[in-house]
Amino acid sequence: MPATIAVVHGPNLNMLGQREPEIYGHTTLAAIDAALTSRAEAAGLRLVSLQSNHEGVLVDFLQGEGWSAAGVIINPGALTHYGLSLRDALAALRAPIIEVHLSNVYRREPFRHTSVIAPVATGQITGLGWRGYLLALEWLIAQL
Ligand code: DQA
Repeated sequence: MPATIAVVHGPNLNMLGQREPEIYGHTTLAAIDAALTSRAEAAGLRLVSLQSNHEGVLVDFLQGEGWSAAGVIINPGALTHYGLSLRDALAALRAPIIEVHLSNVYRREPFRHTSVIAPVATGQITGLGWRGYLLALEWLIAQL
């Protein structure tokens, strides 16, 4: 069984492409997942992805796929700023975790400047649009 990369997308990211495209771009979540899957498979990895608008569903996924994954890429959406059960689920994992944001959260409203996820992540990529996910995957591939 190839090593697995788990990708987690939080609330409202299912609306990418339609949702505030001036902030989040025109690329859909399906297109992001397809690009990630293609790159992972080229590197001999398996990629599993989940989007949910519900924090508990993300926690369940991390307790399953996240636990056995070789790396985790997560855009927690607004849960970034207050999702403590999501943070605790990530803190329990052994694999490296890359937190990704499409927009540069530090150039936006003050409430977006705090991430409860960042202290349990290996690193963070913010403001580079959909390519940020691919850069996160490149880093994980380089570690394996
Ligand atoms: C986001 C930034 C968050 O503040 C916001 O709530 C999102 C998306 C981003 O990718 O830029 O839903 O995580």
